[in-house]
Order: sequence, then C-alpha cells, then structure tokens
Amino acid sequence: MTLLLPGTVIIRDTPEDLFDALGHSFMGAARRAVADRGVFHVALSGGSTPEPFYRLLVIDPRFRGIPWEATHVWVVDERCVPPDDPRHNYSMIRESLLEHVPILPGSCHPMPVLEGGGDERYEQELRSRVECGGDGLPRLDFVLLGMGDDAHTASLFPRSDANRVVDRFITFNRGPHVTPPDRMTMTFPLLNAARAVGVLAVGAKKRATLGRVSEHLSEHPPDPVTLPITGVQPRLGELAWWLDTASAGVE
Ligand code: 6PG
Repeated sequence: MTLLLPGTVIIRDTPEDLFDALGHSFMGAARRAVADRGVFHVALSGGSTPEPFYRLLVIDPRFRGIPWEATHVWVVDERCVPPDDPRHNYSMIRESLLEHVPILPGSCHPMPVLEGGGDERYEQELRSRVECGGDGLPRLDFVLLGMGDDAHTASLFPRSDANRVVDRFITFNRGPHVTPPDRMTMTFPLLNAARAVGVLAVGAKKRATLGRVSEHLSEHPPDPVTLPITGVQPRLGELAWWLDTASAGVE
C-alpha cells in the first residue's frame, strides 16, 4: 500500500526505531526554537501510543540535550475528568515525562477542564506566552498528534462541533459525536499555525485508517468534518507522519 499523505512520511521498521528518529527530530526542533527565540513551545497528545516515546526521552542519554529548562509543555487535548482519573492525558504526560526532566513547574500547562470557562482561560494563557506569527496566530514550535481509528486527532472527532471552530484556539468539545467523556481540545486554527506538526501512528490497527486518509486525499480535498486528521494542514509549518512498517502497511 503506497500512502499518499501531505508533508513528509517517515517510516521505520519498529516502534523503537521510530521513537528514536522522532526523538532526534523533537530535540532538533527544541534546540532550534531556543536558539532562535529563547523558548520551545511544544504541545503533546495523550493516548497510548506516545507514552513509550515520552519515557524514551527521559531514559535515553542521547536526549539529555533537550533544553527542558527553556521549554513550555502544553496539552493538545484533555478529557473532562479529574487528574487522578486514568483517562487524564496530562497526568500520563506528567508521570511518564515531566516529573523526570528539569522543566520549570510554571512551564507545564495542564488544561483546566473542570472549571467553567476553562477553555477561554487556557487560550488566554497560551496567547500570553506563545509568540504570534505575522497572521496574529500563536505559533507553537512542535505539536505531537495521534490518530484514532475513526481518523480523529486531538479531540476533534468526526462530525463533532469543535471541528468547525475557526475563531478560537481552545474549545470544549461535547455532544453525540464526542467519544465520552467531554473534552477540551486545541482547534484546527491553532494546530495549523504550528511550525511543525508530527502525526504519530504505530501498529497494524492504524493501517486501515491511514489507507482511507490516503485514498481520500488522492482524489478529494481535506475533509476536517468527517476525516478530521485531513484537517491538519499547517499553513507555514512542516507536517510529518511518523509511522512504523505495521501502520504504513509496508512489509
Ligand atoms: C486522546 C488523544 C487522541 C489520541 C488518539 C490516538 O485524548 O485520546 O489526544 O487524539 O491521540 O485517540 O490514541 P492512541 O495513541 O491510544 O491510539
């Protein structure tokens, strides 16, 4: 299966090899951002795929060069549950990564999902810290996304309300098309303003969805409503798909 995907497709034989390559790309982006602007703003996703990658960044001495002391970690999306709930994305990111690296406490930004107006608060905090590009949009340096079997990414689910938001960077997402629980999520305008976006999809379970996305994009324009991952089209930034041979469908 030849995948036709926008941007760059990086395939490695095993998840371990893939995480190794992604780690070097992550460290390179961090070093460049700090060299150019003195700070690295990264947004991380939850789910099961990235956890071993986060743990690798902690234990592998080759990634000791990541400038954590100049890094801000944001959350791509969060489930509206308390931090002690096993579904809580930031808690996984904190336990697998943030507790083990020299990042400043004030540079870790969990989403205030249990507070009314929490989406507006998070957006204000992000706007106050992340430099905007010429278009007035805050430009994150690196966004790590996953992809669900239904082609959702972040908490932008097929036909869910947040997919259509064009005037906000952070919003709650609720309703019949949102896999429970309710969510808070970054929106396409923010994701697509980033300098670099990586989609991490590992394992044979992802192959069919990647095939659907590739087939759709080979004949149709992006369809952020029903195939949300196709709505990830960074305008000025780089898009890379980080796949292993199992998810890419190559032997
Ligand atoms: C979430 C994630 C979500 C995730 C995909 C893939 O809150 O669940 O942000 O977008 O990236 O569902 O999840 P897996 O990595 O577990 O397949």
